[in-house]
Amino acid sequence: MTEMMSMEVQAERPLGRALDRVDGIAKVSGRAMYAADYRPASDLAEGFIVEAPAAPGRIRRLDVSRAEDAEGVIAVLTSANVPEQRAYGAPEDAGRFTQSHAVLQGDRVRHVGQPVALIVARTLEQARHAASLVEVEIEVDAEGGIFDALAHEDLAFAPDSLDGADDADTQKGDLARELAGSDHRVRATYHTAMQHAAAMEPHVSVAEWDGDQLTVHMGIQIVASAVKAFATTLKIEPEQIRIVSPFTGGGFGSKLGIHAEAVLAALAARVCDRPVRVVQTRRSVFVNAPHRERHRQELELGATADGTLRAIRHDNLAGMARDYAFAEAPASPTRASYAAPAIHTSHRVVAADIPTVDSMRAPGEAIGTLTLETAIDEMAQACGMDPLEFRLRNMLDADPVSGAPFGDHRLEACLREGAQRFGWVGSVAPGSRREGRLLIGRGLAAAIRPNMLVGAEAEIILSPDGRFHVRTDMTDIGTGSYTILTQIAADTLGVEPGQVVTELGDSAFPKSSGSGGSFGAASTGSAVQDAASNLLAALRDRCAALGLDGNGALAFTLDSVRLGERSLALADLVGPEGMTASGSIDPDDFDTGQAGYSYGAQFAEVAVDAVTGEIRLRRLLGVFDAGRILNPKTARSQLLGGMIFGIGAALMEEGVIDPRSGAVMARDLADYHIPVNRDVPALEVHMLGASSPFANPLGAKGIGELGICGAGPAIANAVHEATGVRPRAFPIHLDHLLPHLPRI
Ligand code: MOS
Repeated sequence: MTEMMSMEVQAERPLGRALDRVDGIAKVSGRAMYAADYRPASDLAEGFIVEAPAAPGRIRRLDVSRAEDAEGVIAVLTSANVPEQRAYGAPEDAGRFTQSHAVLQGDRVRHVGQPVALIVARTLEQARHAASLVEVEIEVDAEGGIFDALAHEDLAFAPDSLDGADDADTQKGDLARELAGSDHRVRATYHTAMQHAAAMEPHVSVAEWDGDQLTVHMGIQIVASAVKAFATTLKIEPEQIRIVSPFTGGGFGSKLGIHAEAVLAALAARVCDRPVRVVQTRRSVFVNAPHRERHRQELELGATADGTLRAIRHDNLAGMARDYAFAEAPASPTRASYAAPAIHTSHRVVAADIPTVDSMRAPGEAIGTLTLETAIDEMAQACGMDPLEFRLRNMLDADPVSGAPFGDHRLEACLREGAQRFGWVGSVAPGSRREGRLLIGRGLAAAIRPNMLVGAEAEIILSPDGRFHVRTDMTDIGTGSYTILTQIAADTLGVEPGQVVTELGDSAFPKSSGSGGSFGAASTGSAVQDAASNLLAALRDRCAALGLDGNGALAFTLDSVRLGERSLALADLVGPEGMTASGSIDPDDFDTGQAGYSYGAQFAEVAVDAVTGEIRLRRLLGVFDAGRILNPKTARSQLLGGMIFGIGAALMEEGVIDPRSGAVMARDLADYHIPVNRDVPALEVHMLGASSPFANPLGAKGIGELGICGAGPAIANAVHEATGVRPRAFPIHLDHLLPHLPRI
């Protein structure tokens, strides 16, 4: 029986198998080399950032003399001795990931915490001590700074684009007319919190120069754009730069681009003529890596008495870091979730004197579904309808704003399967379900997230040792890239995954999509699949030339290739150098004119203590459509992680900035709360698993950020059913609930 089982497992094709992570043993045994683990051949020096204590303004006095004299100090980098760089933000049209990220520029400081000096010393302790000896005085601008964008709506403007792509505003239909013709209207203002990615691995770079060649070992999500960013900033050629990033300890958007520690390490290594490592401290990550801004979101919905939506308006306001063009798109899900004759969305930003604002996990949808799906629940209640029924009544058959047909549309399937698996029996009157002093509530929410395809290249080498080496500059930020790319190659080549060696995260390899926007697996995976097909075709030709010709699949062992009854020695087939083939994906070849989304539905049950207001999540169940599932184990882990992020968005995560000084107040994981084991019940993840061939050659859709979408609002809607209090500010605090809880 055991033998039969294992034979069945062997027979199962590599792609779609719940393969353990191929890098799992290396990670748990400490052999996986993260950037900070890298040891250069010559003496490594340590850099420590000295931060601006106030901003915006100019440095009035910066006295580094005591630091320079401190034990072990090799150099102190300031604007006085820093090598020349291109001005921060230039050229303006380069895009935020490849524009200059110059540091220590003149006497200007943009935000509190910005580096004003870098101490380089023999040890980290010496560098840190010397940093404490630096004296810095900032003359804050007479007019002060803008730290609370939401209080400065008068300065708001429409960003050129959202998240670098979409229009700030969309208008479909006559909103005023549809609202006037509605029997029910819901209008509410919501606030979502400042959030920090705070990946387990802080931002880190180890830089070394060999003549004019720079090598940086760093934690990064997209290698190719980081090469460009260094080239732009340091005014050198991309060919002079090599980035090595085989493992990245989480990114969540905050490692899409490079940050101060990377540029400081490169500059310091040049000045000191030795390798320099700069690891941001946890506190530094909260100000010298990007964050998600607070948003004020206003939603207005109109529906007829039978629960048919007629109008949706979603207007947003948030801060934008001055001189850094990024605006998040919370109304993105509003543009494509529900049918309505009128849908109007807008985004406005206020330039603020705050640390960098950039993509954070599921940018747009994470906080957009939080508010939209709460408002939808409010409208269902206004119509006296079950919230599941209401959502199902307003499903759509084409992208409502663009008019494009959907490549596939499985939102309804997710909602129906979720309801069945969760045991959704309809909503009950708020506050009516009780267990002693606990108020029990259930809620649901839909999830939607645009699916993207990005250009990527890869190569595969069959070496004389019989292994297929996959090479691309793709990163694995904890998502499972190594594993699924191995599976894709093995599946296409017709070998077991053990015969494939995947090598990632090196700019010497072909350019990939990198990890971001949930596009990595499908984009780089499609390039790997193409490379594998090309290699197989080339191998077949070579076999034929050597007399191994015929139908059927080539079977590769470690030292031979077999076709039917005959075989060839691998050494004769590939020679001492091995055989290489390249592959790529070009999104233009896959532009079908269809709207592509991943979908989900989440269902939550909470218990709220009627005396203390404490909210405890009891169950969270998600059903997801991410197209074809490449590996159910890594896919499930991605969804679980997203759902936990969603719990945090609903109940815990809250960055705090002092509106008077611009100082970020919550700067460690004691003050900045994330869900811990005690906050996370057993989560249930289900995947529809049907392929989405319109999306890319693999038929897979984005999964990394999908799980976060809808998780928070399902919880918020459950809190409403439990308590009768409608959460409109996130995270939900118990003091929001306490004054309104029913007496028990
Ligand atoms: Mo994602 S926020 O594009 O890493």
